Amino acid sequence: MQLSFAAPGAIGSGAFVVAAYDGGKLSGAAQEADKETGGAITRAIGFSRFSGKSGQVVEVLAPAGIKASRLIVVGLGTPEGCDGSRLESAAAAVYQRLNRAGETEITFRLDAPKGAKLKPARAAAHVAFGARLQNYAFNHYRTKNLDEHQHRIRKVTVCSQDLQGAKRAFAPLEAVASGMYFARDLVNEPPNVLSPAEFAKRARTNLAKAGIKVEVLGEAEMTKLGMGALLGVGQGSERESQLVVMQWKGGRAKDAPVAFVGKGVCFDSGGLSLKTGQGMMGMKGDMGGAAAVAGTLLALASRKARVNAVGVVGLVENMPDGKAQRPDDVVKSMSGQTIEVLNTDAEGRLVLADALTYTQRTFKPQFVIDLATLTGAIMVALGQEHAGLFSNDDKLSGRILEAGKEVGEAVWRLPLGAGYDKLIRSKIADMKNTVGPHAGSIGAAQFLQRFVEKTPWAHLDIAGVAWQDGEQKTLIPSWGTGWGVRILDRLVENHYER
Ligand code: BES
Ligand code: MN
Ligand code: ZN
Repeated sequence: MQLSFAAPGAIGSGAFVVAAYDGGKLSGAAQEADKETGGAITRAIGFSRFSGKSGQVVEVLAPAGIKASRLIVVGLGTPEGCDGSRLESAAAAVYQRLNRAGETEITFRLDAPKGAKLKPARAAAHVAFGARLQNYAFNHYRTKNLDEHQHRIRKVTVCSQDLQGAKRAFAPLEAVASGMYFARDLVNEPPNVLSPAEFAKRARTNLAKAGIKVEVLGEAEMTKLGMGALLGVGQGSERESQLVVMQWKGGRAKDAPVAFVGKGVCFDSGGLSLKTGQGMMGMKGDMGGAAAVAGTLLALASRKARVNAVGVVGLVENMPDGKAQRPDDVVKSMSGQTIEVLNTDAEGRLVLADALTYTQRTFKPQFVIDLATLTGAIMVALGQEHAGLFSNDDKLSGRILEAGKEVGEAVWRLPLGAGYDKLIRSKIADMKNTVGPHAGSIGAAQFLQRFVEKTPWAHLDIAGVAWQDGEQKTLIPSWGTGWGVRILDRLVENHYER
């Protein structure tokens, strides 16, 4: 899809999209289009329930008097409510509708209502971003009915009076979109294709191009480092475990980096504590945290963020095998602490434990945030609406909550505490890897906290938000969502760039 900005001009071919506001009031561009078509818009609105509320759309097909195939009027609601995310949703909803209808070309002329807080340039950038995110598709494995699945839209033009400003405002959003696309692709890839080594290879090729330093540690190196927790998870797989270390150096040389750590279980069968057939479905997405971390690094580098950032992802496959780790095994982590593995399906925390130790000891970061599809229990608590947030630091938590609100990736903080820490006491080792039957997500977070070494830390349990089953929603494709890239990029932009 070709996406560009243009100065407002005459109505050309394709669909022409204009705005109306609360109470059904037409924007200037909508009034002009109405005039040129002999009042077609006014008549169409008269035949519908349209009142200019956000989310409402009226369509005039094949209007007389102009070249356009369609005139679309979109409700943008009240000035107070008309922000970046409203414009993104409006553009995405129109894109989705027109794409389904078989349209090939869209021109957006979506002026925000008078009194809206964002400038015309920003407004145009968010319209373009909405269209860009909705343009995502994953059709690599289809050989049939491609026509049904491929996007028809070839060309999207976004009009703005401030053409240069719009382009400037869009550049960083385009960078974020590229990070989200990368993360979505990784989550969508089937597990026979996306092994730990394949993930590492894709990180290398895609991230190096953006100026990111990528190092890959294999099992021999991780053995030397004493990463018994991570290696134990991967030992039942034919495929080699990997630790990928990504560094973006956009800050001053002496500045401590911000650090992100991701759970990269390329497939989670449960190991010998085998999942059910039903429970295993979708477990190709158990590397969603690692995908979000790689995507975030790509976004930061693509927009040349003035920050030093590191991403560390532990990549393994959790499989049952004669060599697989057993329930009751005790492993020794890189931190020196021992872990009794009572359930081999609680593997994410084992991978993260060593990745967290490695990250803190190697980079002495300002903070470390880990992302993981860690527990089914987080969906019992929060559904698919919020990611779970756990942290040892109120300031970092507050910043994450704020960034999430701003970009529409919602998070909800849950508690940690000494009472919960007791749940992971082991009869023979320093801790065990399960809790039960209650507080599953908190127990997992307590386990991770045992590996935090005087660093501000936050853990995002993204099991409910990293992928999305069923029909595509506006802005969110079915399956891999790319959740995490936007919120982390915004967190860095708000507080950590020089
Ligand atoms: N990857 C799963 C968590 C998960 C479940 C993510 C469903 C997305 C959807 C994780 O490794 C896991 O298996 N967790 C167990 C922990 C239990 C064995 C202590 C769980 O949540 O049941
Ligand atoms: Mn598991
Ligand atoms: Zn898992």
